[in-house]
Amino acid sequence: MTAQHPRIVQYDDAAVAEAAALIRAGGIVAVPTETVYGLAADATDAEAVARIYAAKGRPSFNPLIVHLPDLAAAERIAIFDSHACALATRWWPGPLTLVLPLRPDSGIASLVTAGLDTIAIRVPAHRAMQALLAATGRPLAAPSANASNAISPTRAAHVAASLRERVPLILDDGPTSAGLESTIVGSAMILRPGPITAEQLGLPNAPPSEQITAPGQLATHYAPAKPLRLDAISRAPDEWLIGFGAITGDDTLSPAGNPIEAAARLFDALHRADAAPPPRIAIAPIPAAGIGAAINDRLRRAAHR
Ligand code: TXA
Ligand code: MG
Repeated sequence: MTAQHPRIVQYDDAAVAEAAALIRAGGIVAVPTETVYGLAADATDAEAVARIYAAKGRPSFNPLIVHLPDLAAAERIAIFDSHACALATRWWPGPLTLVLPLRPDSGIASLVTAGLDTIAIRVPAHRAMQALLAATGRPLAAPSANASNAISPTRAAHVAASLRERVPLILDDGPTSAGLESTIVGSAMILRPGPITAEQLGLPNAPPSEQITAPGQLATHYAPAKPLRLDAISRAPDEWLIGFGAITGDDTLSPAGNPIEAAARLFDALHRADAAPPPRIAIAPIPAAGIGAAINDRLRRAAHR
């Protein structure tokens, strides 16, 4: 294998152990689910999650789905009402994602939810994803394992063609069974149609304005409560400065100027800025290349209130 190609390993115990070791070290791994191949990372590790966005080249921090081994594990992350409990009992493990209130003590990195107070979770049925969940003991964030704006992968070869050297390891367990991303349910509506149908669920489709069609289309993006000034090279007396690289702030996203580290820390830094005494927030310029485009997209949204 050259550096241009990911390692593709057939599913077996040794392959799962290798994938789990990568995840536990903060890396990313492509793994099949019953719907599409996902690009998985430890959902409690903000830098690992930032590597997912970087590998996909996602234009914005669209929130990710978190995969759990069972309902008990899911209940430690999100708050279930009786309707959610009934759906989970009926359809999990399987291709159903529930958007539920996030537990404040969940330990999930805020980059996973893009700073929202809800979280999308599911218990997958596929043996490979289940084995990886068991071997890592971590909740796994996983969007579809394709470059942003490309078609979702249903075979290991699709992942390799789309992400190439940006994914180090692909766990290959043949073509996925559902081949369509999971059905997403939130607020007793179908937010994204999928393998489990409206008829099966007995739920209405959300009006088009609330459906999730493309990254960055959610209306409820995180925005700080305070005014935010972009591209600041120094701090005004009434500002809290979030620095980057050579610009040192009250808080500095990445003193080394590493955009992946900056992405991992961005939402936490904005939360801290909101909680700090100064009435205004300023943030240093972040280069637009790579994941910097996503950072700047989110910052523009956060600044235009
Ligand atoms: O089948 C699937 O769901 C696959 C496999 C890998 O599990 N995953 C997948 O993830 O399709 P992704 O990231 O491509 O799609 C996740 C969708 C996005 O459209 C996102 O906007 C939505 O879930 N989402 C995530 N968290 C949300 C939240 N808190 N509220 C509303 N929508 C949310
Ligand atoms: Mg996708």
